[in-house]
Amino acid sequence: MLIYNYFMVSLTEKRKIDHLKLCTQKDVSFKEKTTLLEFVELNYSCLPEISLKEVDLSTSFLGKNFFFPFLVSAITGGAQISKKVNLDIAKACQEIGIGLGLGSMRAMIENPKIKDTYFVRNVAPDIFVAGNIGVAQLNNYSVQQVDDALQLIEADALAIHVNSAQEAMQPEGDTDFNNLIQKISLFADEINVPVYVKEVGHGISFDVSKKLSQTNIKAVDVQGAGGTSWTRVDSLRHKKSFGEVFRDIGLPTAISIIETKNALNNSGKKIVATGGIRTGLEAVKSIVLGADMVGNALPILKAQQKNGSKGIIEYLKNFKKEMEITSFLLGCKNISELQKQDFVVLGKLKDWLQQ
Ligand SMILES: Cc1cc2nc3c(=O)[nH]c(=O)nc-3n(C[C@H](O)[C@H](O)[C@H](O)COP(=O)(O)O)c2cc1C
Repeated sequence: MLIYNYFMVSLTEKRKIDHLKLCTQKDVSFKEKTTLLEFVELNYSCLPEISLKEVDLSTSFLGKNFFFPFLVSAITGGAQISKKVNLDIAKACQEIGIGLGLGSMRAMIENPKIKDTYFVRNVAPDIFVAGNIGVAQLNNYSVQQVDDALQLIEADALAIHVNSAQEAMQPEGDTDFNNLIQKISLFADEINVPVYVKEVGHGISFDVSKKLSQTNIKAVDVQGAGGTSWTRVDSLRHKKSFGEVFRDIGLPTAISIIETKNALNNSGKKIVATGGIRTGLEAVKSIVLGADMVGNALPILKAQQKNGSKGIIEYLKNFKKEMEITSFLLGCKNISELQKQDFVVLGKLKDWLQQ
């Protein structure tokens, strides 16, 4: 249950409160578009010739170890109610041994008084923690300002979110996206921690990933379509928004993974598969398609709302088990074996790829 005094807070804080409230209380999913992962068929083996116990999905990502390849996508920070959410998520991730992304640091750069809502190192000293900033805000902040914020929260990396569709739905949105690839490149060169780029649930295309491949970023987090629709969230926030028209805009997650893999092609940059990933089976399909890491946001927030860090731990343990069972059924003991697996694409996914 989210409790707050709505009239005592700033616009940025209000936006964070609205987002948390809408995502937990309304249907914010895509209307018809799916991730298309349902059209990926894996090479099931009734005789995998390994033991389930041998499956070990541990990995490393941007210099930190993960007990299994799950990175909680950016959710919150900046509103007083974000504090408990972040601490619960961080506690659970520390217990399981995986990483998390914090929500946009814009609020703390604008108002340093609320910086503590992002502090998680007291409960999560060892794990990967990413700071976050919107790409359009790179026009407003210097490298030094962002670096200072990252240092305050003791982040291991910076996630820059690229979200043209979401910004266009907000009356107050930043919609000047001129020359932002140069900004990403500059920040990737100059920020003191590794930088990666993420969408917010509408997908990253071949063309964008190709441009990103020329920069010094270390990973692309696809955040494809099929899960939480941010045009939908912002149309619920602003009654006059065009959000309903654009609710289903974007590239399905399966397409975004495949296009990004083709675009990054041996560049050494990692791929994170996100956007509507709801089961361990879908997560393993994403790895077979070429991802190195998976993650999600809304299911983690819902598990937190249900039962705090305990709810998230239970959710993640179950998710991990689903991934291990899927790997076992393919006869794969680890991520690199999964990435060499054959797969078949059917239906809509095949049609899309053929074009
Ligand atoms: C309540 C909430 C707040 C979010 N805030 C941010 C944010 O500050 N920065 C960001 O990059 N993404 C943010 N996201 C987007 C998620 O990181 C993710 O890209 C998106 O929800 C799609 O993943 P899903 O389908 O698993 O929810 C937020 C998501 C939720 C649910």
